[in-house]
Formats: sequence, structure tokens, C-alpha cells
Amino acid sequence: MKNKNVLVTGGAGFIGSNLVKHLIQEGNRVTILDNFMSGYRSNLDPFPTATIIEGDVRDQNVVELAMKGIEVVFHLAASVGNKRSIDHPITDAGINVLGTIQVLEAARKEGVRKIVTSSSAGIFGELKTMPIKEDHPIEPDSPYGCTKLCEEKLCLSYAKLYDIDAVALRYFNVYGPNQRFDAYGNVIPIFVFRMLNNESLLIYGDGEQTRDFVHVNDVVQANIKAADSQGVSGAFNIASGTRVTINRLVELISKANQNVVKIEYGPERAGDVRHSLADISLAYQTFGYFPQVSLENGIEEYVKWAQKLSVKV
Ligand SMILES: NC(=O)c1ccc[n+]([C@@H]2O[C@H](COP(=O)([O-])OP(=O)(O)OC[C@H]3O[C@@H](n4cnc5c(N)ncnc54)[C@H](O)[C@@H]3O)[C@@H](O)[C@H]2O)c1
Repeated sequence: MKNKNVLVTGGAGFIGSNLVKHLIQEGNRVTILDNFMSGYRSNLDPFPTATIIEGDVRDQNVVELAMKGIEVVFHLAASVGNKRSIDHPITDAGINVLGTIQVLEAARKEGVRKIVTSSSAGIFGELKTMPIKEDHPIEPDSPYGCTKLCEEKLCLSYAKLYDIDAVALRYFNVYGPNQRFDAYGNVIPIFVFRMLNNESLLIYGDGEQTRDFVHVNDVVQANIKAADSQGVSGAFNIASGTRVTINRLVELISKANQNVVKIEYGPERAGDVRHSLADISLAYQTFGYFPQVSLENGIEEYVKWAQKLSVKV
């Protein structure tokens, strides 16, 4: 995608800032709407040409302002993660459901023709069949899974009602540069930053649970290809199509970081699924998505990024 007026909600966040980088490199004019709830201003420092609007996707006026002249919307702003939604279910629903409706309404009024929204594998709940296809039973285990499902369905309903294509990308476990360590962080940043500080790692359960980790560059690729696709609306899995145990993940991080720390095993965590593996063939067949980054290379790159960040802190 080149030379377009593009809005990225949640553009200061982990995935959003990686997407903004690519969009700017390709010569698009990028507007970012973010309230910095979990995103970082410093993620946007490298993009002085981007228009940054500090505001909330639940605020109709600010969303309409951000939407002026926009041709393509990438909607990533969200309250992210199972734990955050269990701790703050009302906020989660407000941002993910009402915020999405504000974005859709503003997009409809502005005549936007394409919206790509960030859904989540969290909509599926416990694995019933493997690999997970798009038509796998949908039984979310957390408020987050429910609100992301609602977000996805809202976008698809707008595609049915109006002259707008809507693509919902169901990301599995995304990792890569700009993914920070925080209380709601995913397993890779938590383990990498704890290892950098020579702190022990806590694995919930026996560590034989599996996850399908996908590098953020591949998620960016999926967003761009979905936006470029003509006349496509629907929901698609975006993952690597491979899975790894948490125990193996720890080995890879340890190798990349060249250190070994104490590992503790604790009880399984409420809301976590045991296994996760995506079938990504529909995204490949429909708009040519194909992951490029291996977990080994991606982890090595991520550890280098985290090492630089910890030196700065
Ligand atoms: N990281 C993953 O593994 C993963 C997996 C599945 C789906 N997703 C989805 O991808 C999207 C991006 O996630 P991320 O990992 O980059 O998380 P993130 O927390 O880094 O990014 C979310 C961004 O949205 C902004 N935001 C939150 N509430 C807002 C509001 N009310 N108004 C405006 N901006 C707001 C935050 O400040 C942040 O910049 C989210 O929609 C998330 O649900 C992420």
C-alpha cells in the first residue's frame, strides 16, 4: 500500500508502531489516534511526519477529527489481554466495543472503504480441534475474548450494511521489537526482561502447554495485504502456523541471551488455554499472507532489542 491517507488507532502501541513504521516507509500519510493508555510516546519519536492525535477512541469528536480525509483505517486501539479484562472488565468492554463502534461510525460517515481490525485468538477459548481453523468453535474464556469477538462482528456487520470492506485479523501470540515488559505483558517480554535482570522465571503449569508465536513483521505484512485486497471482508487467523512449548521457548531465550536463570513452576492460570496452533491457509489463499520470520531468528532479534532498551533504562 502506497501513497494513501491512513489512520492507525493504537499506533503508539507495540503492533501499531511497527505498522506505522512500515506505512511511512512506503510513502503513506499516517494519522495516529492514541490515548497512550498502554502505548509509548517514544515509539513515535522516529516518525516526525506522522500526525499524532492524543485522544480516546470512545470520544466521538476526536474520532471524527482523526478520520477526516482518511482512506484506510487500521484499528488497533484496545484494552489488551485476558488479565487486564479480568481486572477491568468494564473498561475493557468500553474501549473494545464502544470504541470500535465510534471508529466504524466515523469511518462510515467519512466514506472510508477499508477497515482492518485487530482481533485475537482469544475468541476461540479452549482448543477443540487442531490446528485451529476460522470455523473452530468460538467459546472465549475471558471478557477480553468476548469483547474482541464483538469488535470483529461489529466490523463485519458494517461490511454487510455499508459500502466498506472489513477484515478482522485474529492474531495469535505476537512478539517483537517495541513489546515491553509490564504487568499485562506477554510471556516473551516477561521472560526476556526477567532473564536480562537475572531474575527467576515463573511458568504457569508444567510448561508443556503450547503457543503459536508470530513475529510482528508478519502481523504488519498481514495488515498491509489485507488492506490491499479488493472486495475482501471476513475474519482470518494470523499466526506462524507452528507451535512451541513454553519450556522450549525458555531454551531459545536462554540461548539468545546466553544465560541461565532459575525456573519455577506454579499453578495454571485462570483464563489461559492449554494449547494453541493456527491454520493460516485461509489468509494465504485469500490475500497471500505467508509468515517470513522463524521463531529462532525473531527471538534473537527481540533479545538484542531488549538488551539495548535495558542499557538505556
Ligand atoms: N500482542 C498480541 O499478542 C495480540 C494478540 C491478539 C490481538 N492483539 C490486538 O492487537 C492490537 C494491538 O495490540 P498491542 O499488542 O500492540 O497492544 P498495545 O497495548 O501495545 O497497543 C494498544 C494501543 O491502543 C492504545 N489505546 C488503548 N486504549 C485506547 C483508547 N481508549 N483510545 C485510544 N487509544 C487507546 C494504547 O495506548 C496502545 O498504544 C489490539 O487490538 C490487541 O487486542 C494483540
